Amino acid sequence: MNVLITGASGFVGRAVTGEVVRAGHAVRALARRLPRTDDGPVVWVPGSVVSPEALSEAVRGCQAVIHLVGIIGEVGDQTFERVHHEGTLRVLEACRSAGVDRCLHMSALGTRPGAASRYHRTKWAAEEAVRGSGLRWTIFRPSVIQGPGDGFVNLFERMSRWSPVLPVVGRGTARLQPVSVGAVAQAFARALDAEVAIGKTYDLCGPDRMTLPEILATILRVTGRRRIRMRLPGAIARMQAGLLEAVYPRLLGRAAPLSRDQLLMLDEDNIGNPGPVERDLGVRSAPFEADIRRFLA
Ligand SMILES: NC(=O)c1ccc[n+]([C@@H]2O[C@H](COP(=O)([O-])OP(=O)(O)OC[C@H]3O[C@@H](n4cnc5c(N)ncnc54)[C@H](OP(=O)(O)O)[C@@H]3O)[C@@H](O)[C@H]2O)c1
Repeated sequence: MNVLITGASGFVGRAVTGEVVRAGHAVRALARRLPRTDDGPVVWVPGSVVSPEALSEAVRGCQAVIHLVGIIGEVGDQTFERVHHEGTLRVLEACRSAGVDRCLHMSALGTRPGAASRYHRTKWAAEEAVRGSGLRWTIFRPSVIQGPGDGFVNLFERMSRWSPVLPVVGRGTARLQPVSVGAVAQAFARALDAEVAIGKTYDLCGPDRMTLPEILATILRVTGRRRIRMRLPGAIARMQAGLLEAVYPRLLGRAAPLSRDQLLMLDEDNIGNPGPVERDLGVRSAPFEADIRRFLA
């Protein structure tokens, strides 16, 4: 099958693309900045997910699309609304025009109408567009994803190299259910030709439900470091996030490493049911500690 993967150059996109290629499919990949490495069987198409021209070129000759593009922070016109919602509408239009009827969509656990964060609300709008698209769709909702090059475990691991203190942002009592990027990639690759997955929304989460302090303790245990875990009071965390949001996009052209929207998400449980994806697609994530031990080593 020929498959278009949007967001193929990102952390999750690299793993999904590798798995889809290993499964014997040909990949066309869309991203604004193309990777420098030669990806062999992957044909790269430069462009934004909101550009109908780029999408119509990218989807040419494909039978399925894996739509992964998403952002965790806003920069300039890369807003949640534009990238998550409008981008998904454009992808669905491109699919319909090109006669592509299979669509695997990347959402996120916690996505629901009226969610506290704009990240989750715009992901919900995108899901609704996918469900109403008339295509044969499957939606995946991961909790936080860990793996080589992730922006979560690796962020705290790097911080723990030089800082005597690791910040616990948010209340520290909300539970996450981390899932390995390998399991996420397998789920997408296996769903491509799995009739059972059509019209279903799957949670992607691992076997462990952990609070942020427990996750930090595990990272420290695995790296053999001793650091103080300190809770950052809500008001200070919000002030710091507001400052980072003002400085990062303007001075560095990048999204802030911590935003007020992320703080809202960190204060709610992000847990799900790994049963259905294991039953239908045979996908099961490794336990958190064993998995991070592999890639942090
Ligand atoms: N990582 C997690 O823990 C996690 C958890 C739940 C859900 N998710 C979802 O999984 C997806 C992938 O996340 P990730 O962690 O792999 O993020 P990432 O590393 O930041 O990758 C995002 C990808 O999207 C591309 N992209 C961004 N804006 C674009 C645009 N306007 N047009 C075309 N491409 C664009 C990026 O390439 P360019 O910037 O070069 O265009 C990159 O390839 C997202 O939808 C995210 O919401 C991730």
